[in-house]
Amino acid sequence: MTSDLKSLNRTEAILSAKEIISTHRAIVVLTGAGISAESGVPTFRGKDGYWKNYKAEELATPAAFESDPQLVWEWYDIRRRKLLNVKPNPAHYAIAELEKKSDDFTLITQNVDGLHLIAGSKTALEIHGNIWRVRCTYCGIKEENTQTHFEGLPRCTSCGGLLRPDIVWFGEALPEEVLTEVYNSLNRCDVLIIVGTSGIVQPAASFAYTAKNNGSKVIEVNIEETYLSDISDVKVLGKAGEVLPKIVGGMD
Ligand SMILES: NC(=O)c1ccc[n+]([C@@H]2O[C@H](COP(=O)([O-])OP(=O)(O)OC[C@H]3O[C@@H](n4cnc5c(N)ncnc54)[C@H](O)[C@@H]3O)[C@@H](O)[C@H]2O)c1
Ligand SMILES: [Zn+2]
Repeated sequence: MTSDLKSLNRTEAILSAKEIISTHRAIVVLTGAGISAESGVPTFRGKDGYWKNYKAEELATPAAFESDPQLVWEWYDIRRRKLLNVKPNPAHYAIAELEKKSDDFTLITQNVDGLHLIAGSKTALEIHGNIWRVRCTYCGIKEENTQTHFEGLPRCTSCGGLLRPDIVWFGEALPEEVLTEVYNSLNRCDVLIIVGTSGIVQPAASFAYTAKNNGSKVIEVNIEETYLSDISDVKVLGKAGEVLPKIVGGMD
């Protein structure tokens, strides 16, 4: 009985999400680590969120890299190796599908795994960078780098400086050009769909408030309630890979 009610609630939530999306024009989708969980990429706060007893917050910081770049690169190397075998899941494909059907569409992702682009999304504002890009700590040059199994520390081919992942670490500012595009989209949108985001990491969490204050509807897709649930107009509780294809499907 209870499970019937629950599934009815979810069905109703999916229908209202569909209704909102099809009757509004400018859509923004904000994704977090949860959307890649079904592809096998662990979230930071889930049960696999630790490596060698370190929390991500202890490794993804400028201070950690300064004191032990080898350790930080070892962690990224392991994450890169895992990503080599990972594929987008139905949630990534549903978002790429929604983009095709929409006239005004922006995808903002906190993920660094690059899976949205592999799934066919034309653009993704990767606010935290991309794990397959590196940046020279000396000359600042950025380049794609898909190496794994690093021996020693990776060095810049132009100046020999130490390379770091081109990722926004805890305590660092987001790239300004990307932020400008993010706020342009949030100020214009009338629907914001938040998928697999805990709402703990700023400023992504505040994006929901920006959209809401501008009169946008907010739809949340997550396996559990989050800090953003209270301001969401529709909460769809469920796995992104199961729920998003249902929300987006048949919306031509
Ligand atoms: N795939 C990646 O690139 C990756 C992975 C881990 C962490 N990160 C980084 O860590 C930071 C953490 O913030 P965050 O809010 O994105 O992640 P988070 O780890 O704090 O939270 C993940 C959220 O996803 C939800 N979730 C888990 N499985 C789900 C599923 N199958 N369907 C729907 N929701 C699901 C959880 O309930 C949680 O709310 C991000 O800034 C990101 O840069 C990235
Ligand atoms: Zn350099």
